[in-house]
Amino acid sequence: PKEKGLVGSHSYNYQGFWGSPRIIQGVIACQKQFQAQDSDIILITTPKSGTTWLKALVFAIVNRNRFPLSGQNHPLLVKNPHALVPFLELKLYVDGQVPDFSSFTTPRLLATHLPYASLPKSVQISKSKLIYLCRNPRDTFISMWHFTNKLRSHYKDANSIEEMFDLFCKGVSLFGPFWDHVLDYWKKSLEKPNRVLFLMYEEIKEKPEIQLKCLAEFLECPFSEEEERSGVVNEILKLCSFENLSNLEVNKNEKWPTGEDHKLFFRRGEVGDWKNYFTSEMTEKLDNIIEQKFLGSGLSFYYS
Ligand code: A3P
Repeated sequence: PKEKGLVGSHSYNYQGFWGSPRIIQGVIACQKQFQAQDSDIILITTPKSGTTWLKALVFAIVNRNRFPLSGQNHPLLVKNPHALVPFLELKLYVDGQVPDFSSFTTPRLLATHLPYASLPKSVQISKSKLIYLCRNPRDTFISMWHFTNKLRSHYKDANSIEEMFDLFCKGVSLFGPFWDHVLDYWKKSLEKPNRVLFLMYEEIKEKPEIQLKCLAEFLECPFSEEEERSGVVNEILKLCSFENLSNLEVNKNEKWPTGEDHKLFFRRGEVGDWKNYFTSEMTEKLDNIIEQKFLGSGLSFYYS
């Protein structure tokens, strides 16, 4: 199946999810080539759910002894989080090949937007840890609308909010349908709580310390009493905050080898921006779909 383009000229359905030909090419390469290790930590999201933030937080937690948080040369101060925690399937770095992970230290920190069923087989059968971050569908949609239109600027035809919203409601969004993506990982996190941690963007915003401790425990590197006393949790939160990251030179003014600006990944970083765009009809239509899709799942979203 083929639909109007979200990032390229058309979107295609592959294994039940949507992407551009370039994305699908990367997915096929990673499904064929990627070999998971039991020690891998894999961060998973639908696009625009807060991937960049999650990458920064997990990188800072896992490497806190290797790279002191107060150091002037912390990698997060000089590199974009996506350069530190690469996607398995997206060639933001070099076109035409799966990133080379051979120089990575253990545990390897990696990321993907793939739905559970399309993860490379080696990931599914390994004991790697999967961290899933989800965001309410209204803010995810608005963030995606802005992002894809910026990417589409070289096609010189922005998608209107109405047409992208209709596509989103039909399930046509990058790596979507949104609900299938979220629900599959939600169910896995209930089945295998030691393997899959399910987090929500709004909960990290609301109670960052609790969520960070939960992340560190899941990764089997909990904060010691001494670390808690000395304020390590807050140092990580400050280092990875939207204010800090979005104002760094590397994130403000640098680009990927493929030409996209690093600043594309930082827009507002808030909960509730949907209120500036959604009509009451849009809210009602999406709510009806979400209610029906998530019925009986035990999962609900926070919108403000
Ligand atoms: P908005 O467009 O709503 O501002 P992703 O990283 O998955 O591409 O998601 C991008 C969204 O996360 C954008 O949302 C972006 O502003 C927000 N974001 C990026 N860094 C963040 C941070 N450190 N804290 C909170 N939100 C952040």
